[in-house]
Amino acid sequence: MSDQKAEIVLKARDLKRSYEVRRGLFAGSATVQALGGVSFEVARGQTLAVVGESGCGKSTLARLLTMIEAPSAGSLQLKGVEVATASEEQKRLLRRQVQIVFQNPYGSLNPRQTVIDALMEPLLVNGIGDASSRRAEAEAMMARVGLRPEQAARYPHMFSGGQRQRVAIARALMLKPEVLVLDEPVSALDVSIRAQVLNLLVQLQRELGVAYVFISHDLSVVRHMADEVAVMYLGRIVERGPRDAVFEHPAHPYTQALLSATPTVDPALRRERIILQGELPSPLAPPSGCAFHARCPKAEARCSAEGQVLRALGDQQAVACFKA
Ligand SMILES: Nc1ncnc2c1ncn2[C@@H]1O[C@H](COP(=O)(O)OP(=O)(O)OP(=O)(O)O)[C@@H](O)[C@H]1O
Ligand SMILES: [Mg+2]
Repeated sequence: MSDQKAEIVLKARDLKRSYEVRRGLFAGSATVQALGGVSFEVARGQTLAVVGESGCGKSTLARLLTMIEAPSAGSLQLKGVEVATASEEQKRLLRRQVQIVFQNPYGSLNPRQTVIDALMEPLLVNGIGDASSRRAEAEAMMARVGLRPEQAARYPHMFSGGQRQRVAIARALMLKPEVLVLDEPVSALDVSIRAQVLNLLVQLQRELGVAYVFISHDLSVVRHMADEVAVMYLGRIVERGPRDAVFEHPAHPYTQALLSATPTVDPALRRERIILQGELPSPLAPPSGCAFHARCPKAEARCSAEGQVLRALGDQQAVACFKA
């Protein structure tokens, strides 16, 4: 990173999202808080990795950032424009700026559409260029993501999982977005091809200057991809900071436990394994105080009484814990 502070392209402040769910046939409805207020910034061309266990709110966050859903509360700014109060025309332009790649490329690609058509479609829908310029751009993008020209007329089922994810990435980049949200982009792929897709993403970011919000539950992947890391637990960020700070000096007991469970080849980074007690609590009945207290090896009385907010730790890291 250069000394100059890069432009902030995405800014979230206390973003919340809750859902009404029915408890059963005869019981009333209940509120699930999927996202309990998260704040962060993403700089141009940088990667924020969001990591946490299943159900902690990662995909909910992805849907808010990509404007698939509106937040229940909080503020989301894209290149300085507040999404909630933007005009319809502004929103249409903002939507182009944030694209998403899902875990399963089968679900996100139309089985009846050839690759070249899938890539041209976002340009067509947005009225960009003419037929020949759209084709040229789609062909150029195919080359960028490592697909061969003769694959243009093929259908998604004719590709391997890794190639299909390349198509999904290519399609998401056709509108030259400022931000790409990647929701577990390699989790469904064979281990043997994950590194190829991750390296492609690194290379594309370098070439195009696109920022990533990279969602993963896999810390070794996060370590490879992230500039900044946000660790989530039950709908909140419990620790945030530059990758090396978080990996080398994890401050939150939850981050410490996650890292201790990740295999590492570097003996200097190997730490004693912390086994977390109990299950991730239900967001339907979140614990009092700090949501992590019941599983926390360092918890004391006040942890079940008082909620925790992120506070600065040094000049870049932030942590939501008394004990850090
Ligand atoms: N549309 C919905 N209606 C009701 N509850 C929802 C809805 N979407 C998400 N939730 C709940 O919100 C919480 C967060 O879900 P989310 O899918 O964001 O988690 P996640 O971190 O992406 O999990 P995973 O790692 O399994 O993908 C979960 O408890 C989930 O059941
Ligand atoms: Mg998810």
